Amino acid sequence: CGPSIGPASGFEPNYDESKIPDYTLPDPLVSQDGAPITSAEQWNTVRRPELLDLFEKHVYGVSPKPCPIRHEVVSRKTVFNGLATRSEIDVFFGLADDAPSMRMMTYVPNERSGPVPAFLGLNFQGNHGVDADPAIELNPGWFREGRNGTTDGNKANEKSRGATASRWPVKMILDRGYGLATIYYGDIDPDFDDGFKNGIHGALGGQVADVAPESRWGSIAAWAYGLSRALDCLESESELGVDTSKVAVIGHSRLGKTSLWAGASDPRFAMVVSNNSGCGGAALSRRAIGETVGRINTVFPHWFCDQFTEYNENESACPVDQHQLIALIAPRPVYVASASEDQWADPKGEFLAAAAADPVYRLLGTRGMGGDAPPAKMPAADRAINRGVIGYHLRTGKHDVTDYDWQQYLDMADRHLQ
Ligand code: GCU
Repeated sequence: CGPSIGPASGFEPNYDESKIPDYTLPDPLVSQDGAPITSAEQWNTVRRPELLDLFEKHVYGVSPKPCPIRHEVVSRKTVFNGLATRSEIDVFFGLADDAPSMRMMTYVPNERSGPVPAFLGLNFQGNHGVDADPAIELNPGWFREGRNGTTDGNKANEKSRGATASRWPVKMILDRGYGLATIYYGDIDPDFDDGFKNGIHGALGGQVADVAPESRWGSIAAWAYGLSRALDCLESESELGVDTSKVAVIGHSRLGKTSLWAGASDPRFAMVVSNNSGCGGAALSRRAIGETVGRINTVFPHWFCDQFTEYNENESACPVDQHQLIALIAPRPVYVASASEDQWADPKGEFLAAAAADPVYRLLGTRGMGGDAPPAKMPAADRAINRGVIGYHLRTGKHDVTDYDWQQYLDMADRHLQ
């Protein structure tokens, strides 16, 4: 279930390492004027703002300033035989009566002595896809056509209830003492190219009128903006029981690209998880293996800013690469996960990007990937690197989120958020 994976007809992806073009990664610790960055202060005042600006203008696009939010609690219910409280909350982007809204669903364990650390992530098939409980409202919005009969046209149907439950092991998360907050990503911006008329693009788009058109926010930036407003809501509604200084933002695939950008651009996220995020996420663009920048911009023209198309088949001209996106999360914990059968997302490129962010993490006083230096080689499948602040694993299997993945994220969270 979920969105399409892999190449569509007509594009022959390269999977041969020997055909990767020669490339040099831009150094996260050398500023644009060539000056070395040798202290945490220089990183925070010079290089970090510079890189953030480059990612905005060249990759994801510039988003509007945070809008004020308001929210309405729609339901609150004890679930799983008393284990947890589930709430549904409408979060409005702006104070106007007709402001667009997203529906957030939260779970917190009932056995807790205070607010709990939590995971926050967007979902692909509606909140009703996370758990089959018929009390969860069937999302009435636009859906990409489901492969398993889960949609009628572009509307979710009853078969989509619980359709992505295997990716959201809610009870496991609660048993480990964490809360979970999730939102259907299409509530924020429906995932199709309509010239940004619908979703929050339509409603808030006027606010980026002074930004050069080629550098205005794409859908990934809009989804990340929604995650930050969800965090605003968790901060303002203490009844939801979440310790907002300990929120890990998590996402799979295109939503993993989104969690990385959310974590890079909003330092309130205490931890970031990228599950199989691939091109435009954790994978190095310059390797041009599996999915490429040219391919992603052609098939999904609304995800990135238009400037990013300048780097189609020309990745080395881009002033940044994705290891620097991971570095923007430093010194906060980040976990990058790949899957062995997901060559489209370039597992090796994801590992190399995580390792290339390590010097920034060390400059900021952490152990980076652990040990004295990042490992020179990818770890064997199902052997997590998790002793430092940058975690990585290559899970055996397909492009997906499994219990194994979640166990690693929960272990990482135990070490850093509990
Ligand atoms: C496609 C796309 C990927 C994306 C994935 C997903 O495969 O090419 O970049 O990560 O969809 O979001 O499922």
